[in-house]
Amino acid sequence: MTDKSRVLIFDTTLRDGEQSPGATMTHDEKLEIADLLDEMGVDIIEAGFPIASIGDFEAVSDIAKRAKTSTICGLARAKLPDIDRCWEAVKHAKSPRIHTFIGTSPLHRAIPNLDMDQMAEVIHETVTHARNLCDNVQWSPMDATRTEHDYLCRVVEIAIKAGATTINIPDTVGYTAPAESAALIRMLLERVPGADEIIFATHCHNDLGMATANALAAVDAGARQIECTINGLGERAGNTALEEVVMAMKVRHDIMPYDTGIDTTKIMNISRRVAQVSGFPVQFNKAIVGKNAFLHESGIHQDGVLKNVETFEIMKPSDIGITETNIAMGKHSGRAALRSKLNDLGYDLADNQLNDVFVRFKALADRKKEIYDDDLIALMSDTAANT
Ligand code: KIV
Ligand code: ZN
Repeated sequence: MTDKSRVLIFDTTLRDGEQSPGATMTHDEKLEIADLLDEMGVDIIEAGFPIASIGDFEAVSDIAKRAKTSTICGLARAKLPDIDRCWEAVKHAKSPRIHTFIGTSPLHRAIPNLDMDQMAEVIHETVTHARNLCDNVQWSPMDATRTEHDYLCRVVEIAIKAGATTINIPDTVGYTAPAESAALIRMLLERVPGADEIIFATHCHNDLGMATANALAAVDAGARQIECTINGLGERAGNTALEEVVMAMKVRHDIMPYDTGIDTTKIMNISRRVAQVSGFPVQFNKAIVGKNAFLHESGIHQDGVLKNVETFEIMKPSDIGITETNIAMGKHSGRAALRSKLNDLGYDLADNQLNDVFVRFKALADRKKEIYDDDLIALMSDTAANT
């Protein structure tokens, strides 16, 4: 990749996202989400963990067969049978990738009971094996942010020499913070021989609510692939949300001058579909895709956006594919918003008529949390009956 401003988007909704307890998707739902990711311009789709189950294998292999432009990636532990199974699933893709990983922090090294040298040997063997099967290999030192820096540099160098083309740096437990996330990438770029010939990826979890900030800080430091999920779906507090990092780089391009290949107008549709098929609703005030993210109810805000939308909106709802109105009618709404809303519904009122409707609208809004178009139409027919 020669364009230094281009950041690759690696979506793992179908792998890390689907690992959230209760978020299991059916085969057909996975194919549908993969199609939407492909159409929206995601560079790499991590479609599943082929050794995990026959269902996962079939999903990855079917997604690999139908993907039009995205690279299709499967996950594999640092075991040769896992890697073989992963290759069997992804090999049908126009552009396949094997992603293999092992936990490198002291806590994770203790689980397979490997010392540093033994683990280094496993990394060399498994990455070499993956690279003999596929020329696009990603390697991840799981729990990288809690791995000793000297050891992290050592194993990253081994993986690069064994043929890894992308090195992913996971913050597996959402433990890092933006300054540290950036410093880690900078340290690896400075210290590891061959680091400038591969792509560094950032993979953040949201346990402390910093996944988006940590991913963007890593990009500032030189990472050129962000791993993320739609709606931030993922285990525990979730992963970096695709819509947040993409829109942050678009809206604040002045201070984050990075480009992605994402068609942002497709964001809202895929967000809604992922919420439906995963059964994980999106919180109302979630950045970018929450129900309230573009809605204004207070009179001052409504008056402001009706006069100049930029007073209270930093991006256009249409940029992410929202077509609905951004004015929510409720007890905080003012006359200007009511007039504008009634105009949209086809009513053109004189000032005295508006005053009368406004009094009754406020009384209704005190009794009812949300006022829908039908409520306003009913209010208008009462007005007509009373005059
Ligand atoms: O969070 C993590 O460490 C992962 C790895 C498998 C990349 O999801
Ligand atoms: Zn993860």
